[in-house]
Amino acid sequence: MQIISGKELSDKLKGEMATEVATFENRFKRLPKLVVILAGNDAGSVSYVTGKAKACEQVGILNETIRYSETILETELLQKIAELNADSAVDGVLVQLPLPKHINTQKIISAIDQSKDVDGFHPLNTAALWNKTECVLPCTPKGIIKLLKSENIEIKGKKAVVLGRSNIVGLPVSKLLLDENATVTIAHSRTENLAQVAQDADILIVAIGKAKFVTADMVKKGAVVIDVGVNRDERTGKLCGDVDFDAVAPKTSYITKVPGGVGPMTICCLMENTVECFLRHENAKI
Ligand code: GUN
Repeated sequence: MQIISGKELSDKLKGEMATEVATFENRFKRLPKLVVILAGNDAGSVSYVTGKAKACEQVGILNETIRYSETILETELLQKIAELNADSAVDGVLVQLPLPKHINTQKIISAIDQSKDVDGFHPLNTAALWNKTECVLPCTPKGIIKLLKSENIEIKGKKAVVLGRSNIVGLPVSKLLLDENATVTIAHSRTENLAQVAQDADILIVAIGKAKFVTADMVKKGAVVIDVGVNRDERTGKLCGDVDFDAVAPKTSYITKVPGGVGPMTICCLMENTVECFLRHENAKI
């Protein structure tokens, strides 16, 4: 069993990006800028947003976080997004999800200029992903594929099972795995015999949002397990994934940990996407 370290890979990639970004001031007379919008005080979201700001500083990307209260009006958010769309110094606009319940998430995501959609969640970018035309790829799915490739794990022809069907992870990672020629099954909370379905996986991607949901009996010997979950273990108060790591790890060939696995790769890919949007804004070669 080998642990795939997202922390190590992301540190390496961020280091390489920092070297590239350091040349931009000279080449383009400006630096990339990411603006993150956070509405409310969800503990998970606050910690993600802090991580994003720190990564921007490491890479040399200008960044601003705009915080609103839980009660922000949809119209206020739309107005801020319009302002950021019009600001040529801003390359990326990210609205942290989930948004407060009274706000129409799709309406907000659609309002972001497609060329500044660093999350790859805009309907035009989603369409481009499914049509296999060039687009910004959603950060977590992109990071997962990078993790697999970094260990030369064969995806082609393998049975990949994705637990979870969200727009942020489950659906787009399934498409990226298909594009890598895996045979993909998407399973979810209503799947019958979920344990049996999971057991069939050569590559198991877990994004179901339940602490330690995947137990050893659900995993085939020698499988590759990627844990996307970020949960708080109620007993210990510690961060934990959707996989019962201690029980599952000995059965796997490769596995990621929480923290230090997928999370840092998501942030790293966000940095990449921001640089990509910047270069497109500058009409430079990507
Ligand atoms: N909430 C959880 N993951 C994400 C993400 O990748 N992007 C945004 N905007 N919100 C999230």
